[in-house]
Amino acid sequence: RKIQLIINESEVTAGTRGASLGPGAVKVAAWKKESDFFSQFTNQYSIKNNEELLNKPPLYPFAKRIEGLTEVFEQLDTIVKSTYEKGDFPLIIAGDHGSAGGTIAAIKNSHPGKRLGVVWIDAHGDLHTPYTTPSGNMHGMPLATALATDNLDAQINEPKEDVKGLWDNLKNFGGISPKIQPEDLVFIAVRDTEEPEDLLMDKLGIRNITVEEVRKSGVDHVVDEVLEKLKDCDLIYVSFDVDSMDPKIVSHGTGTPVDNGLTPEEAEGIMTGLIKSDKLCCLEFVEINPCLDEKKNKMAEVAFDLLERLVPVIKK
Ligand code: ARG
Ligand code: MN
Ligand code: MN
Ligand code: MN
Repeated sequence: RKIQLIINESEVTAGTRGASLGPGAVKVAAWKKESDFFSQFTNQYSIKNNEELLNKPPLYPFAKRIEGLTEVFEQLDTIVKSTYEKGDFPLIIAGDHGSAGGTIAAIKNSHPGKRLGVVWIDAHGDLHTPYTTPSGNMHGMPLATALATDNLDAQINEPKEDVKGLWDNLKNFGGISPKIQPEDLVFIAVRDTEEPEDLLMDKLGIRNITVEEVRKSGVDHVVDEVLEKLKDCDLIYVSFDVDSMDPKIVSHGTGTPVDNGLTPEEAEGIMTGLIKSDKLCCLEFVEINPCLDEKKNKMAEVAFDLLERLVPVIKK
């Protein structure tokens, strides 16, 4: 495969600032190791962070900066589409996870007839909607845009009319809705969800392979299970939120760290196995926040080590 690197610096949907610096921090980690890793990517595509929007108070408390996220969906759609048109593989290093709904939309809109599977490696379910969010932060909502759910059975918020319209636009982005089926979504290491997410996971039957299961059955078994579950999918997208990893082992260099996560070795083993599948169509790393890192740039260094080892496998 030929890789197109996409750097998305948007952090408009996180609750804490700093994830826009994540991609740059990964480059600093490469520089510190005297690695020429990034020189293999000759023309990098970029999406800039919307500083102007971040400097204004959010208009909608249950969908903060949804108008900025809509712009990110549009930018990703163009960039990801042109990546596939060249026959290249998109490798994305992004800021906060909200944009991953746009990645899924762009993949699907580029391959309308194909069945898309998603592997979500994360401490969080990211299944909230403006109707259920506890924070209003849209990095907790990307999978709800892809599944096109409002989760009204678990409604706790009453969003404004204009939010409903903007939210519907995200769910229908590009005209195909939903983008994925719940049986084509697999969670790995999800361990911090709120009740509305639990209800939706139950209702939709979303499989979560816990950290304990990864440890008990081993990484190879997990990879086999995921690929078996997604065997009828034509394409597989892997979304790697670095908060899937254990903050005690790595660091707190991410917006919403949660204890008892994966080791970097487990994350590497799982992703290596998934990358070997011909169906893998995109890999994305998100939520590296160097501003929150008590061990200087440790999270970015761990993410870089992973990328350095995974990219040669993607290229094969
Ligand atoms: N569930 C929480 C919320 O909605 C946390 C979401 C964290 N998401 C993430 N991509 N880090 O606010
Ligand atoms: Mn996430
Ligand atoms: Mn997360
Ligand atoms: Mn929580």
